[in-house]
Amino acid sequence: MVRRAPDERSRTGAWYTPDHLVDLLVAASLDNLRTPTATVRVIDPACGDGRLLAAVISTLEARGLAVEAVGCEIDPPTARATRERLGSSATIIEGDALEHPWARSDFDLVIANPPFSSPLSKRGPTAITEPGSPYADLATRFWDLALELIRPEHGRIALILPQSILSSRDAENVRRHTESTCRLLWSWWSETPAFDAQITVCSVVFERSQNPKGIDWTGVVTDRLGLPPLPSRLSTNGTIAERARIRANFRDEYYGLAGCVTDTGSGPPLITSGLIDPGTCHWGRRTTRFAKQRFQAPRVDMDCLSDRFHRWAKSTLEPKVLVATQTRVLEAVSDPDGSWVPAVPVVRLEPLSHVTPDEIAALLTSPIASRLMWSQSAGTGLSPKSLRVGVAGLSDLPWPAGGLHDAAEALNHGDIAACGRLVHRAFDITEQGPLTTWWEQHLPGRVE
Ligand SMILES: C[S@@+](CC[C@H](N)C(=O)[O-])C[C@H]1O[C@@H](n2cnc3c(N)ncnc32)[C@H](O)[C@@H]1O
Repeated sequence: MVRRAPDERSRTGAWYTPDHLVDLLVAASLDNLRTPTATVRVIDPACGDGRLLAAVISTLEARGLAVEAVGCEIDPPTARATRERLGSSATIIEGDALEHPWARSDFDLVIANPPFSSPLSKRGPTAITEPGSPYADLATRFWDLALELIRPEHGRIALILPQSILSSRDAENVRRHTESTCRLLWSWWSETPAFDAQITVCSVVFERSQNPKGIDWTGVVTDRLGLPPLPSRLSTNGTIAERARIRANFRDEYYGLAGCVTDTGSGPPLITSGLIDPGTCHWGRRTTRFAKQRFQAPRVDMDCLSDRFHRWAKSTLEPKVLVATQTRVLEAVSDPDGSWVPAVPVVRLEPLSHVTPDEIAALLTSPIASRLMWSQSAGTGLSPKSLRVGVAGLSDLPWPAGGLHDAAEALNHGDIAACGRLVHRAFDITEQGPLTTWWEQHLPGRVE
């Protein structure tokens, strides 16, 4: 491998693929590969030291197939060394693959671990001026290029990509283009940041298809986490954001409250995430920590708060639903009388009209709501152990077409399982099996 200075490596995105991932990606991309001629045409447009090409060539040759391999590398010394290393088995082009006048679009396989970078975070090796997509990542542009280079029938693309590309807005066009022309053959994701670059990556193999069926992008991550599939259809009526104002508290509120919480006095109870279980608030029955102190039954001393935080705390004393953060499934509890102050970082939902806090809490206490939130989390620097509960994710949750009254009743009687079943009925979900089992296994008290 050609050694490069750290700055140079960062600038060109030269983080090489570890051997285990080379093996996985090459095996997946050559599995049942169909080619129209006896010679397999393969290209790596960001070939670096040529490790992906070398692995493809040796695998295909071991199968008795002829290979026509092309690599492109922007860094001249690396390109020269790779040319020497691969000898006559590959043609190495020295230059910028994104500017190169590619005359062919008949490759059987485009394989690459392209550079990842954002034009705003660092200067990449090329000027990134894609119209309408100012944040487009270099990896997205290589993905676009791959779509141009593969042949129209059964051509394959095998890429290592930053995980964020599965859901980022900037990559939406290339995702749409891919799902309308290709099918996803294989995917891989690891929760551990790969390479020295410390970026969480995924890897995907697509094949051009006359009959594309759409791609579940976040499934690349959620399948790997063992999450059950989403139901094929939901009967919905808008979103939760149309029925509730959703608010998260921030650091300011934390510092505003710290020092004004006591175990005595008569102020409103402070509800931390740790006190919330589905449909239940354990205030006064379970100790909890806030601002590095343990409390038996924390109350907010309203007189101690500064004017600003007094106004804020008072504004939270409305009928609402509180949702815990950092949990495996959604944990929500209703406060219909508006008597609690949410701690930081508890999220609160205030019903707008025609719905009750109990109905909102019931919706959130269901397998489908938790599973949808996991899909949301999948693109956002996911932690494999807990859900990212935020305003954006909650806002997008669908509201069911059917009523939630019965589910809310069940939740009020402490029957969590029945609440989940009744929410599914409101969405007209018929496939209960794996989704319900997964949810019940991860309800608090049963978490591994
Ligand atoms: C992440 S490394 C991957 C190298 C190798 N294919 C692997 O899998 O380990 C990306 C390589 O692409 C090169 N590169 C960056 N921008 C490029 C561009 N616009 N055209 C061609 N190569 C480029 C970098 O110099 C680096 O060697």
